[in-house]
Amino acid sequence: MVRNLRLRSQAMLSKDDNDLLTQTGPGTPGGDLLRSYWQPIATDDEMPPGGDPVPVRILSEDMVLFRDDQDRLGLIGLHCPHRGSDLSYGRIEDGGLRCLYHGWLFDVEGNCIDQPGEPEDKKFCQKVRHTAYPVEQKGGVIWCYMGDGEAPLIPDYQFLTAPEENRMAFRVIQQCNWLQGLESSTDLAHTSYLHRMGAAKDAAGNSTGNPYYSEDIHPKLDIEHTSFGVRIHSLRKTRDGKNYLRVNNYIYPCGTTPTMGAPPAEGYQGRWHVPRDDESHCRFEFIYRREGALDKEFWGQMKATNVGPDKQHIRRAENRYMQDRGEITRGETFAGLGRYIPAHDAYAIETQGKIQDRTQEHLGSTDIVIIEVRKALLAAIKKMQAGGEAPGLLRDLKHNQFPDFICTAQFIGDDEDGPAYCRRVLGPGKQAAE
Ligand code: FES
Ligand SMILES: [Fe+2]
Repeated sequence: MVRNLRLRSQAMLSKDDNDLLTQTGPGTPGGDLLRSYWQPIATDDEMPPGGDPVPVRILSEDMVLFRDDQDRLGLIGLHCPHRGSDLSYGRIEDGGLRCLYHGWLFDVEGNCIDQPGEPEDKKFCQKVRHTAYPVEQKGGVIWCYMGDGEAPLIPDYQFLTAPEENRMAFRVIQQCNWLQGLESSTDLAHTSYLHRMGAAKDAAGNSTGNPYYSEDIHPKLDIEHTSFGVRIHSLRKTRDGKNYLRVNNYIYPCGTTPTMGAPPAEGYQGRWHVPRDDESHCRFEFIYRREGALDKEFWGQMKATNVGPDKQHIRRAENRYMQDRGEITRGETFAGLGRYIPAHDAYAIETQGKIQDRTQEHLGSTDIVIIEVRKALLAAIKKMQAGGEAPGLLRDLKHNQFPDFICTAQFIGDDEDGPAYCRRVLGPGKQAAE
């Protein structure tokens, strides 16, 4: 169904709905929704074979990710169920992770398999079961499933399943609620302002900017509901009269796929905004190039220059995002925040507050995607509260493909708009050309 909601605008969200969307700890309705899907927790390079255990915070739960002495991956509670010491300091040995305090040993499934100080009959061992969640690797990251019941499938989008030379994954921590990150990634209007910049590269090769964003600051936005979430179209007129279409996507429950660059887009990003707790989240980025190898050195260098060893942007609230108003005066950037686009986004979302008070906002006509994604999320939460299943879960291999998925940046004819373009490309019975 195609809906053009361009002229609709809506006032703020109620406090109850804002709480439903932003509270994600154990036992919360929003947390139940997020736990119904696999969630990325770390990039592969953070947990190489033979790597050390690492503490991980996700959905307000403190966990430790580790490999046992056979390199099997495990994700178990950070605090030892004996008397609470931090297991990420533990020893990898004897088929598990051994707590340093009294030597209790846990396998990757959370079973207690040794308690050296207890009687040898091991009966007490069998009474102790530690929190543990299944983990899997796909697309350059480690995913976990924290929900009840049988885990669904991890989706097989091309940005996760393409040959390794075509893709790369990164993670950065942002100091605000996950929904603010998601909303910035689905907001196709802000690029005309926040990311506007002159055509030049900085020393690290950061963005030359996309001139089309600022050539038309009134994009026509349309949305369509799909099997996986919401397809988002933005259409801009370029200075020389072309029609510049971007087709991005919202993927249940916290994913997006923004296109990269001006047409013809060589690829796109997958982005997942995963709560660490309600006041911080990880932005996982999957950089995907359709044809030809991704320039991993370029991307690695760009990330190394802009993200610190603490996995947070170098530009951050503590240094006022290193804003340089000279850039504005010289016409180099709109925001004076350099050329690294994710740092612009970090400024925008972190300064909304740890949890944005959406009872105070005033949504305009360019916020139709924000409104629609919130509606979809609220409907999903309420469906689950009524005993239903979360939307878009994949349970059958043959459904783990996405014929209605398009992510692209194109010039299109005057006789088409975003939905018409997608109808023509997808057509009845056609697979989406990613
Ligand atoms: S606290 Fe871990 S073994 Fe005692
Ligand atoms: Fe952005």
